[in-house]
Amino acid sequence: MDKIKIDISHEESLKQKKIMDELSKQIKAKGLKYHVSTFGCQMNAHDSEKLKGILEEIGYEATDNEKDADFVIYNTCCVRENAELKVYGRLGALKNNKKHKPNMLIALCGCMMQQDTVIKEIKRAYKHVDILFGTHNLYKLAELIQTRLETGKMVIDIWENYKEIVEDLPSIRKFKFKASVNVMFGCNNFCTYCIVPYVRGRERSRKPQDIINEIQGLVDDGVKEITLLGQNVNSYGKNLEQPISFARLIQEIEKIDGLEKIRFMTSHPKDLSDELIEVIGKSKKLCSHIHLPFQSGSTRILKKMNRKYTKESYLELVKKIKEVRPDAALTTDIIVGFPGETEEDFLETLDVVKQVEFDNAFTFLYSIRTGTPAATMEDQVPENVAKERFNRLLDVLNDIVNKKSLEKVGGIYNVLVEHINKQDENLVSGRLGSNHLVHFKGSKDLIGKIVPVKIIESKVYYLIGEQVERKEVTNEK
Ligand code: SAH
Ligand code: SF4
Ligand code: F3S
Repeated sequence: MDKIKIDISHEESLKQKKIMDELSKQIKAKGLKYHVSTFGCQMNAHDSEKLKGILEEIGYEATDNEKDADFVIYNTCCVRENAELKVYGRLGALKNNKKHKPNMLIALCGCMMQQDTVIKEIKRAYKHVDILFGTHNLYKLAELIQTRLETGKMVIDIWENYKEIVEDLPSIRKFKFKASVNVMFGCNNFCTYCIVPYVRGRERSRKPQDIINEIQGLVDDGVKEITLLGQNVNSYGKNLEQPISFARLIQEIEKIDGLEKIRFMTSHPKDLSDELIEVIGKSKKLCSHIHLPFQSGSTRILKKMNRKYTKESYLELVKKIKEVRPDAALTTDIIVGFPGETEEDFLETLDVVKQVEFDNAFTFLYSIRTGTPAATMEDQVPENVAKERFNRLLDVLNDIVNKKSLEKVGGIYNVLVEHINKQDENLVSGRLGSNHLVHFKGSKDLIGKIVPVKIIESKVYYLIGEQVERKEVTNEK
């Protein structure tokens, strides 16, 4: 784990910094430990790095074991019902831990907390929770802890909207050599099944200079690969005082010396511009991987989902990407069982999967989210029908993922080595630009280095390789 500390310049950041200093005087001496559990997407994972940064600044030490922790925090997700059920289940179990450890603090934050019904339920049935906050004010964690310690009461601080983007938070990165960077927050798209716009607020972009400064700081600190994060990165910059496109932002970021690889997610097909496709084609640093969720192959269902593209325009987009970057790996998200989905609609989804030949896909059974338009649509698909379609989709996908993975065998790729293999310590693990995972013989001094690896075998969801000479590389990106 590596620690970065950026200049805290902002007024609000200064206030929080002062509180962190005060708290650390009490907490450091006691040798208290923290544990953060993250549910949901990369956005949440990145938020958790900021939470960890604040907790360490306050003087808590990390522990991998929740049972040992004096401060437990769940950064929650509500995109599907099972994400919420997991949190409630874990919270029930924590009640017992707290009986043995009365001074332990439990905090909940993230997307689930932005819903009134959840807050009511926690107040009713989970009184052992100490602090509740949402997605817009995680920078205030130190202040909330201070209030809890001073008052001894449950602290609840949920904002309906963001006030401003607070820059310069401390942060604890999982890897020294790769990092995520938010380019924007929130979402304006209101896909009819999705709760994210309600819990993450409206779209707002960070200023390009703030993003570039952060990346420069990360690179100075040893980072080689960055992932630019947003719910819809393709609409980055549209609402800034001085508008700038995502494609231009990438070109600016690419100028940073020492930064070697750039990734981004997620792209919404409706906003993926020709300008961006051109940059994807000529960029030296963008990895050969585009995550482009299509959700459904039926234009009729896409309309009901409010996705604002058609099956044909999606396929056209894929064609354009493949033209400028034939080696681009494509991954996607698919929802099965959206209200009104017929067998014919589902066959259109299978058709897109077969035509595009995705390298990988995240597949989801439609989950009703109260408050979204789809929740009250007629013709909800019966669970057994949706599950049967889901299994057929997985069968088709498995064959395709297998085929795409086999195509990698024989190629030589640049691989960023991430860690020692968990099963076999003679192996290291890393990722190709295409995001395929590869294991090969190597020692820990390779971690964080970009090395050429020949792929010798495919095991469908991972590859086996061997390190070779740099001059043999067939794919730089
Ligand atoms: N902003 C991203 C996706 C964020 S949510 C995008 O637009 O692509 C991640 C994925 O969860 C979505 O792509 C969708 O496939 C899935 N998802 C969202 N709401 C869902 C719901 N109610 N039921 C099932 N899957 C859902
Ligand atoms: Fe949800 Fe659609 Fe926004 Fe993605 S673009 S977060 S699926 S509303
Ligand atoms: Fe992400 Fe889940 Fe929130 S997918 S944005 S953590 S609802």
